[in-house]
Amino acid sequence: MDTTRITVPDLGRMKAAGERITMVTAYDCTFARLLDAAGVELLLVGDSLGNVVQGHDTTLPVTLDEMAYHTRMVARGARRALVVGDLPFGSYQSSAERAVESAVRLVKEGAAAVKLEGGLSMAATIEAIARIDVPVMGHVGLTPQSVHRMGGHKVQGRRHGHAAGGRERVLDDARAVEDAGAFAVVLEGIPLELAEEITAELTIPTIGIGAGVHCDGQVLVLHDLLGLSARAPKFAKAYAALADAVVDAAEAYVREVKTGVFPTDAHSFHSITPVAAPPVAVRA
Ligand code: KIV
Repeated sequence: MDTTRITVPDLGRMKAAGERITMVTAYDCTFARLLDAAGVELLLVGDSLGNVVQGHDTTLPVTLDEMAYHTRMVARGARRALVVGDLPFGSYQSSAERAVESAVRLVKEGAAAVKLEGGLSMAATIEAIARIDVPVMGHVGLTPQSVHRMGGHKVQGRRHGHAAGGRERVLDDARAVEDAGAFAVVLEGIPLELAEEITAELTIPTIGIGAGVHCDGQVLVLHDLLGLSARAPKFAKAYAALADAVVDAAEAYVREVKTGVFPTDAHSFHSITPVAAPPVAVRA
């Protein structure tokens, strides 16, 4: 397998050549190594770890320190894939300076690029980060950090309008992200016709999740892909049923320990010197 590192310019070339791009979320070194070996081009250290690793209902509680920790682990496992670190809620919205500092932090932990949510309202922030040569991936449409504004994790861009959630607004957001200097953009939770239009218009790659087949690439949350999620969204496809496999394996372990089947002699160590025989009682 080719182990040459995937770079930001490679992704532009892939779009131009019509080669689909794959991105999967990763949160630790082991899975980063496995996904990398499978040929996934982009590993996103997503703030979705708030849901699938930490057990929160939203991504809002995730901190920059936590993202830094997970980015460090994923970077250790990635040989070929390009690691993208997600900027969590509160680490970039207050000012462009704050955003640049947060982006620098994730790059120092091993990310080659960062991702942030928002279009028009984040254009100056994307510009500021790109200006210091940190590649930025945008994220428009259903942006989970805006869950309270959206009134839930709801599909965006279904109706016409320039107001938040409207079709033209999603289009304007995607254009703003490209104009600000992002190298790619995630399109999440939008109608496939809109994703097709954005993908045709933008020169940067679009990476879809719940945005249909016409995007330049696709991203899935690792736990959904592996069948580990308690409730997977409609747009996700499980390529394995690891939740069942994990429960079956753990049940077998519990059974074997309780019945003395595990560990066997093969799983045990033996003393090098013979164990002294127990003392024999001597009658006086
Ligand atoms: O955090 C994440 O996993 C994401 C993907 C859903 C794109 O942002």
